Formats: sequence, C-alpha cells, structure tokens
Amino acid sequence: MSKREFAPDTKIIHGEKHGMNPYGSLQMPIFQTSTFEFENTAQGAARFAGKEGGYIYSRLGSPTTTQVEEKVAYLEDAEAACAFSSGMGAISSSTTTFLKAGDRMVADKALYGCTFALFSHKLSQFGIDVEFVDFRDLAAVKKALEKKTDMIYFETIANPTMKVVDIEAAAKLAHDANKDCIVVVDNTFATGLICKPLNLGADIVVHSATKYLNGHGDVIAGFAASSNKYMATIKGVGLKDLTGSVLGPQEAFLVNRGLKTLTIRMQKHCENALKIAQALEKDSRIKNIYYPGLASHVDAAVIKKQLKNFGGMIAFDTETPEIAEKMMNNVQLCTLAVSLGDAETLIQHPGSMTHSTYSDAEMEAAGFSKCLVRLSVGLEDPDDIIWDVLQALDIATK
Ligand SMILES: Cc1ncc(COP(=O)(O)O)c(C=O)c1O
Repeated sequence: MSKREFAPDTKIIHGEKHGMNPYGSLQMPIFQTSTFEFENTAQGAARFAGKEGGYIYSRLGSPTTTQVEEKVAYLEDAEAACAFSSGMGAISSSTTTFLKAGDRMVADKALYGCTFALFSHKLSQFGIDVEFVDFRDLAAVKKALEKKTDMIYFETIANPTMKVVDIEAAAKLAHDANKDCIVVVDNTFATGLICKPLNLGADIVVHSATKYLNGHGDVIAGFAASSNKYMATIKGVGLKDLTGSVLGPQEAFLVNRGLKTLTIRMQKHCENALKIAQALEKDSRIKNIYYPGLASHVDAAVIKKQLKNFGGMIAFDTETPEIAEKMMNNVQLCTLAVSLGDAETLIQHPGSMTHSTYSDAEMEAAGFSKCLVRLSVGLEDPDDIIWDVLQALDIATK
C-alpha cells in the first residue's frame, strides 16, 4: 500500500490513528475520568518512571486531550503540544517553567492585557527581570539583548495594536545573543494556518484556544507547542507541578470538534475582515485603521514574507475616546464583549477592558490609546457588519 503524508487541513479532521476508538466510535469519546487503573504495581511504577506508555491520571494526560494536542502540533509544525485550561495557563506554565530568580526576559510592549500583567507585575515577585521594548524596532531589541537574556516573548499579530513582528529576525537576534535564550511567540491571532513561528526560529508557541482554535465561544482553553524536549518540561513541570492548569475532557472534546472546521472558518474570517477593513478605511471618521491585509499597514513588508493570510482582527481609532464608547454602545449586530475568534462579531474597548492592566503611559508606549476600538470579525455577512459599524459611527459622531 502506498503512503502519503496528509496535509494539516486533513490531519486536523482525522487526528492520529492510534488504532480504533472504543466501539469504533467516529469521534474520540470524552474520557470523563480523573484516574486510570493499573494492571498491577509494576505497571503503575513503569508508567510513573516513563518506561511504559499509557495513562496515569488526567492531570498528566487523557486520550481526549492527547488527540487534540496532536492536532495542534500538526498545525504548528511542532514535535509535540500540550493542552491547558486557558491561554493564560499555557502562557504562565510555558514561561515560569524555564525562568528562575535572577533570569531576564525581554518582552514586546504590546501584549494581551493579562500577559502584560503577569510579566510586568508578577514575574518581578519571583526575582525575574522583565524589560519591555518595541519588537518592531529591531535595533532596540538588539540593545536590550546586550544584557544576558533567558527568554523573549511577543505575539505574531499583537493584541491590540495589530502590529507584526519579524519573527525570524527577532529570534535570530535572541539566539545570536544567547544560544539558550528561549523564544516564545503567542500565535493566537494568526493560528498555525496563517503563520508557523516555529519554522521561523521560535522555540515555543503558545495559544489561547478559547479563540480561533475552538472558534465557537463556548470554551476556555490554551496550548503550547514546541520540540519534544521543551514540551516534556512544560508538561512535566509547568503543567504538572507549577500551575496544574489542565484542560478538562469536555473542553478538549469541544476544541477537537472546533478544529475540524478551522480551515474554512479562518478563510471566512480573513475574507470578511479584509472587506470590512477596506470599507472602514474609506470612512473619514475613522482616524487610523490597523489590519494586516491593508497596504497601509506599517509592517506591510514583514506581513508579505511572514503571513499567509491576514486574520480576522481589526483595530481602529476614532477621533476621541467618547466617540469610541458611544459607537460601541450603539451597535446592533456586533456584540459588545471581549474575546475573539468566534462566529459572532465581537466589539470591545481595549483601553478599559482587555488592556485595562496598562496604565495610560504604558498604553501610549505600546502604541495605542483609549480611542482604539477592537473588532473580532465573525462569520456573518460582511455587509451586515459594515452597516452596523457605520450606523453606530453615525450616531456617535452626530
Ligand atoms: C493574544 C492572547 N493571548 C492569550 C490570551 C489569554 O487566553 P485565555 O483567555 O484563554 O486565558 C488572550 C485572551 O484574550 C489573547 O488575546
């Protein structure tokens, strides 16, 4: 029989074949169990010693989560992946596993608000020094790396500024400065379909699977993906001992189901967002619009070489924070809610919501203000979304 290496689109539908699912079930069942029975003490000991495969206890893995982890590994071209109970679980487990007192991290200034809070307020409590720099300014990154740095961290498409860091260049700078520096990239906005940071020199990719990977707004979940070496430590120390932020089997099942339609959902998110961004760009009441698919994007050259498509996230500045607020209070179709990557278009105000962990000065340094509105473009008819945003702007600017 001839063999074929199937495309990731195919593999995230079928998953790895480890033999037949119980009773020949088409779907991987939800293994709603906390623990797994051993045949005898020798088997229990062998599993704990890592000498024999098989499950032990659901914090250490279960068949439902294994299948979804394998799918995320395909998407990211990773040797392995690990599921977590949230994106923040993935981020805190993947960073704190490797950082110790006296270590130093260099992170981008524009990050998801809770990631920024973890790095700016909490890591220092454990004696870890964090410096924030603008990762689009590679000279500034290089300068920051003159001090021995153990980890760098940034987002493929930054939340909420939509700026795009040159992953290859940033990873090279980090590894040239210290070959052991760990490059961690949050790939939530892009997903492995649009960008594969590990192929560009990153060491670890993290995700909020609450967003596109699940895609239906009904789960909180996260993933890390990397080499077997890093994943064994993240799973065996970060998840098992440090955070314990294990994904439950019901959530793993739902993410597994969501992944089956990721390719077609992402395609539609991207098409919709491009059309909407192009329409909003023409409206003079919008001061600046940030979408990687627009020729006007400041990182157009990096985007061209790095992204296969442009994603479903748009941000734009209105003239004043008051207009931004009034506009969001007058949408009819879009839902005023944080989160992203769902079928429904969500609109929110980073300055007072997802990024309220930033002071005004930190926001300014990161390149956004309270005039910024963030739109997670859903799967509706794009003309309906355009109509809604414009009618809300009409009211807000009257
Ligand atoms: C880019 C990014 N990373 C991580 C997270 C955290 O994910 P979770 O809410 O699943 O913990 C978020 C949440 O919005 C996010 O936008």
